[in-house]
Amino acid sequence: MIRKIVKFPEPVLAQQTQPVEKFDEELGKLVEDMFESMYAVEGVGLAAPQIGISLRLAVIDVTVGKNPEARLVLANPEITHSEGEQREEEGCLSLPGFRGLVLRPKFVTVRAQDATGKEWEMRGEDLLARAFCHEIDHLYGTLFINHLSMLKRDLIRRRVRKLQKAGDW
Ligand code: NI
Repeated sequence: MIRKIVKFPEPVLAQQTQPVEKFDEELGKLVEDMFESMYAVEGVGLAAPQIGISLRLAVIDVTVGKNPEARLVLANPEITHSEGEQREEEGCLSLPGFRGLVLRPKFVTVRAQDATGKEWEMRGEDLLARAFCHEIDHLYGTLFINHLSMLKRDLIRRRVRKLQKAGDW
């Protein structure tokens, strides 16, 4: 089932999330919904708060559905190592139409659980490293605009407010 993606500045996007504790059928369904909702808008990552659920849970697929083996479920993820730097344009499904240059590590190692509770660890590079950081940020209530200068962030806020007033957001 495709879920509605909530947009900035919905309060749920700025909240800390609760750990995933039950790895049951319901969680499996939620994860499937998250992949479906993400693919529907051709995203490479989606965090549970973006569909209004304040859980420490995200999905990532940097191939946008082309390679089923690239599907990653991040339940209770933690960054265990990062190194290097990359500065690339980033966007977010909760801020459609907006992008900004964000400095991230070039390599990021993540430890997380899958939808069944099994632990996994993976080292990501470039786009995957950035997706790890971006989605884990969401689980702490942080959006990519929080990494931009205050000037750029305020500009985006003002433009969102204008779009809201016009009924286009
Ligand atoms: Ni995002």
